Amino acid sequence: MGEAYEGYVRLEAKVDPEEYIIARFYLESENVIRALNAIAGESSIGTWTEVKTYKPEIKRLGAIVYTYEKLNEMSAVADVAYPLNLFEPKNVPQLLSDVAGNIFGMKEVKKLRLIDIRFPEDYLKEFKGPRFGVDGIRKLIGTETSRRPHIGTIVKPKVGLGPKEFARVAYEAWVGGVDFVKDDENLTSQKFCPFEDRVIYTLEAMDKAKEATGENKMYSPNITAPYDEMIRRAEFVKDHGGNIVMIDVITVGFSALQAFMDEDIGLPVHAHRAMHAAFTRNKKHGISMLVLAKILRLIGVDQLHIGAIVGKMEAEASEVILIRRSLQEDLDRSDDTLGQRWHHIRPVFAVASGGLHPGSIPAVIKYLGKDIVIQAGGGVHGHPKGTRAGAKAMRDALEASLKGIPLEEYPSEELQEAISLWGVRYE
Ligand code: 3PG
Ligand code: 3PG
Ligand code: MG
Repeated sequence: MGEAYEGYVRLEAKVDPEEYIIARFYLESENVIRALNAIAGESSIGTWTEVKTYKPEIKRLGAIVYTYEKLNEMSAVADVAYPLNLFEPKNVPQLLSDVAGNIFGMKEVKKLRLIDIRFPEDYLKEFKGPRFGVDGIRKLIGTETSRRPHIGTIVKPKVGLGPKEFARVAYEAWVGGVDFVKDDENLTSQKFCPFEDRVIYTLEAMDKAKEATGENKMYSPNITAPYDEMIRRAEFVKDHGGNIVMIDVITVGFSALQAFMDEDIGLPVHAHRAMHAAFTRNKKHGISMLVLAKILRLIGVDQLHIGAIVGKMEAEASEVILIRRSLQEDLDRSDDTLGQRWHHIRPVFAVASGGLHPGSIPAVIKYLGKDIVIQAGGGVHGHPKGTRAGAKAMRDALEASLKGIPLEEYPSEELQEAISLWGVRYE
């Protein structure tokens, strides 16, 4: 091995998974072996030619392709081991500049997808992970004992309502039965709905809804903004009695997200993943949502959108199920993944959202279980009788599903109206 793209494929190497970060790649190339060398070299110590400044001891920082399987002459899946010393502790941007950096643009590879990643305990230990996670959020809503899914809504239209109207819609949704109300991903602090006014009115509405229903409720304002402003908005939410904030985690960037978490403001973070599909969607190129989910759990988001399977966005059931599991469980290699032990890092509440409605609830629970927030925007505010009825239909659909009663047989006018409009999905 030198610094040029040679000698990185070492099938004889003994790789202790606790001493390396391991990345699994799918690749297409006219010369698979050359491409594997180029990937491991460029993502660790190498460049296109030998350099005079190379010293033999640098070799210990080189990545190792220790196993690969050719799918045909021009494609393969390979596991690459990166020595831990290659990484700065607790620096996610640097991690990505290694394992998901230049390599996606190299001429040697036609297509490249980072499918999976595995972190050893030594790397994990620097991260705190979610401060609240599943149990912390359950405490805030009061579902530690029932362990039921949470029901959420996104105020719709996505943007356009003024602060008072927004708060009124939120109130209707809470009183109808949702636990959780959130802003949409593109609502921040536009002229028509300034952040501070929206937060003040909506938190007032939340207090009233709590009184009216005797239930705990949550409102997640979208604080997505340049970093300093994001901090200011989170503090504002906290000072006004808010109990969670939302961040568009991809568009704000990993550095901002990591720094935000380190502020330990004391509020859980709901992570919306707008823009993820720019690199997660193509099955042959980019970065998988599984990798993204593992990284976001590490950084410490408390709730994360993972796809709804039966909703409006592209989402393959088996993949979404695996993502849900990786947010909440240890995985081993028999799951056809690199596996992951999470040690002290808490589980994340998974969020199913996008195109859901009351009739989707049985299918969402079947696929994703109960540690899940089931959200509907259109599927609440599009109910023929309006927001309150839509929210009630969601809550009734949840009750019916948990009792194993077919939705069509559940005595709820609001639910029956919703399913005659949008149908029911049991799978
Ligand atoms: C939305 O904003 O409409 C969606 O919930 C985005 O889809 P996702 O939940 O699959 O990220
Ligand atoms: C979200 O941000 O999750 C959504 O906007 C979902 O909206 P929808 O339920 O209307 O698709
Ligand atoms: Mg949205």
